[in-house]
Amino acid sequence: MTTTTTSPVLTATGVTMRFGGLTAVQAVDLDVHPGEIVGLIGPNGAGKTTFFNCLTGLYVPTEGSVAYRGTVLPPKPHLVTQAGIARTFQNIRLFANMTVLENVLVGRHTRTKEGLWSALLRGPGFKRAETASKARAMELLEFTGLADKADHLSRNLPYGEQRKLEIARALASDPGLLLLDEPTAGMNPQETRATEELVFAIRDLGTAVLVIEHDMRFIFNLCDRVAVLVQGQKLVEGTSETVQSDERVIAAYLGTPFEGAPGAEEAAEVEAAESGATGGATQDEAQRGPTARTEDGQ
Ligand SMILES: Nc1ncnc2c1ncn2[C@@H]1O[C@H](COP(=O)(O)OP(=O)(O)O)[C@@H](O)[C@H]1O
Ligand SMILES: [Mg+2]
Repeated sequence: MTTTTTSPVLTATGVTMRFGGLTAVQAVDLDVHPGEIVGLIGPNGAGKTTFFNCLTGLYVPTEGSVAYRGTVLPPKPHLVTQAGIARTFQNIRLFANMTVLENVLVGRHTRTKEGLWSALLRGPGFKRAETASKARAMELLEFTGLADKADHLSRNLPYGEQRKLEIARALASDPGLLLLDEPTAGMNPQETRATEELVFAIRDLGTAVLVIEHDMRFIFNLCDRVAVLVQGQKLVEGTSETVQSDERVIAAYLGTPFEGAPGAEEAAEVEAAESGATGGATQDEAQRGPTARTEDGQ
């Protein structure tokens, strides 16, 4: 018997996160393989963001381990980024008073070798590195459709473009795996569609993607595989078709049965339900612009 084994980019094994008496994530196993787009769905409070925080070293899991290409990662965000995992946040985290280009350059710094002295002395090595970093950052702005805004302050970008900029900044660390936490939250249908195309393009360039999203149409169109978290536990994992037709998912998450593939009606229903639950916060965010780093790990 022949088996095709590609070693996973991500192997999460028995990841558990407890906060006092609350178990937010319980014994979750998840693999992501090269070339895959994997979705992570589940009701609000299911533990999706907490799971991302465990994968990226923001939280030290109570139990379990996270490996990137077979090597167990220390739970330190900068080491996780250096290893090859980049992420975006459910609540946008940009440097509001830096330009779009500067925000991407910040994301680039884990991949530049020039040290402190080189930077202070501004020698030829530093100049070369700086030029190369700028060129790469501009490439990423072209790729995400933000090149013409390179000199704008990030706080002046419309909300959808701030989300894109977060993706550009994450890509600047040349990740093998990109984690996206609700990348289309607060976007209009056109922006959501553009984000879908962007995620496909990222995958086609060789970066695997793990994405949390509430927009079912987005998830089921995009993902090769979908895992469903309910109350911290992985309830089901499978192809979009498998997950959509699983009775337990329908009961636990979707509430009402789906008639075949998700259509406009179902998507609208989910959107309406979501905007009832989280729309207020999203609108606030849109008006406030980029938020400062918060301590809640969101
Ligand atoms: N830092 C924290 N301290 C205590 N409880 C937390 C913390 N972060 C998340 N939680 C709790 O963990 C559960 C899962 O939250 P979260 O991962 O944000 O869910 P989701 O992203 O699926 O909506 C929630 O009950 C939330 O209140
Ligand atoms: Mg979340």
